[in-house]
Amino acid sequence: MSDKLIIFDTTLRDGEQSPGASMTKDEKIRIAKILEKMRVDVIEAGFAIASLGDFDAVQAVANSIQDSTVCSLARALDKDINRAGEALKKANSSRIHTFIATSNLHMKMKLNMTPDQVVEQTIHAVKCARNWTDNVEFSPEDAGRSNEDFLCRVIESAINSGATTINIPDTVGYNIPHQFGAMIKSLIERVPNSDKAIFSAHCHNDLGLAVSNSLSAVYNGARQVECTINGLGERAGNTSLEEVVMAVRTRQDVFDCDTNIDTTHILSASRLVSSVTGFIVQPNKAIVGANAFAHEAGIHQDGVLKHRETYEIMRAEDVGWGANSLVMGKHSGRNAFKVRMRELGVEFDNVDVLNATFKKFKELADKKHEIFDEDLQALVSETQSEEHESIKLLSLKVSSEMGKKHSAYIMLGINGEKVSATADTSGAVDATFSAINSLVDVNMNLQLYSVSNVTRGTDALGEVNVRLESNGRIVNGQGADTDIIIASAKAYIHGLNKILSATDRAHPQV
Ligand code: KIV
Ligand code: ZN
Repeated sequence: MSDKLIIFDTTLRDGEQSPGASMTKDEKIRIAKILEKMRVDVIEAGFAIASLGDFDAVQAVANSIQDSTVCSLARALDKDINRAGEALKKANSSRIHTFIATSNLHMKMKLNMTPDQVVEQTIHAVKCARNWTDNVEFSPEDAGRSNEDFLCRVIESAINSGATTINIPDTVGYNIPHQFGAMIKSLIERVPNSDKAIFSAHCHNDLGLAVSNSLSAVYNGARQVECTINGLGERAGNTSLEEVVMAVRTRQDVFDCDTNIDTTHILSASRLVSSVTGFIVQPNKAIVGANAFAHEAGIHQDGVLKHRETYEIMRAEDVGWGANSLVMGKHSGRNAFKVRMRELGVEFDNVDVLNATFKKFKELADKKHEIFDEDLQALVSETQSEEHESIKLLSLKVSSEMGKKHSAYIMLGINGEKVSATADTSGAVDATFSAINSLVDVNMNLQLYSVSNVTRGTDALGEVNVRLESNGRIVNGQGADTDIIIASAKAYIHGLNKILSATDRAHPQV
């Protein structure tokens, strides 16, 4: 029988550390629910001490997940660990993940600590975490650039103090697959008590090697991989969950382990994370990109039609392609809507929010015959964020004629007061954004604008993503509508609201 490979998903923590990818509590719950459905073993829900909002989000995920273990990150400091423990108190199964840097560079330049002090703090932190839970993970940050003898010493102390998982991070994505695999193998062989812990890999993608390094770690004995949906994560990202899971599943002739993941939910998870964060999936991305299973060249098509395996190593339906179930339509009632929403991880505590979302659903069903899960997720995103927004879109009229200037008239509600403006420029989106700018006094610039379709067909919701920068802070705004100019206005206003409501939060690694 092959070993179990534990999947530790850190979309809600490391993924959220990508500039502009911050998520609200409700968004985290929705993503956690789909991860649970996929049978992810451990969900890292956040860094509880970062802010009050982060604490609430970790706590809310811990309280709403039954089948996966919920984890919070904590630096090797009592205050962090106790905050993580508090947030996870009601979890069905919890884990505290504590870390401290072990490379000479980090110890000297970042921590200003001696190696002996780092070992002492490791011991203290792991023991402190064990006061809250038996399930404690320890990471020597920047292990990929740490001295191996020292790593052995720190890891042995962490295991002796009660750590049950030892995670080896390639924090800056510096490692090369054969080298990273050899390090994992050597650590497992050299650390005297290594049999008392599971070894894990956490690889960043700065050289595009995160998945390769993780697979090399698995090949050499790691039995946990830390990863994120769509490879979201700091800088160039983290290890992509879908790629690791499918590589191990597809190449069972190479790996003597497998995951518990129900891969048929992979595509929905990818779409949800992309729509919540505004990080678009490139068409040629493995597994979840629009072209991942598309064949263009005639010769390939011919081969696939005759015998699928000539050019396909996986079945598209195994990762959720083509599984778009028609969930609801024009005649679906309020109760059916509520039940479906609950299945998607959305609970309506407030009847007004339920009514507002149901009304939007009915309006959409009038325009679009088939409503899919992705449409429902887009509706919820909009309604949940509108609840907290100070700027609201009340009406928009745009006129376009080929060869003429485009004109936009917009009415906004700003802190309850109605204001309106008109702008004429060379493009419909530009005119809309100019009209908004004339009403909202925020110093920022637009870094990215993109449109995509939520589902197929010309009646699909168009989803617009914008990235705005203001005083070094980056936010992403999303908006969806069957009219892409309205979707653009919604996305821009969503981004502006995020800039206006942004609060300070601590970054775990700075
Ligand atoms: O990349 C890293 O080192 C991390 C640690 C906190 C595990 O994210
Ligand atoms: Zn990381």
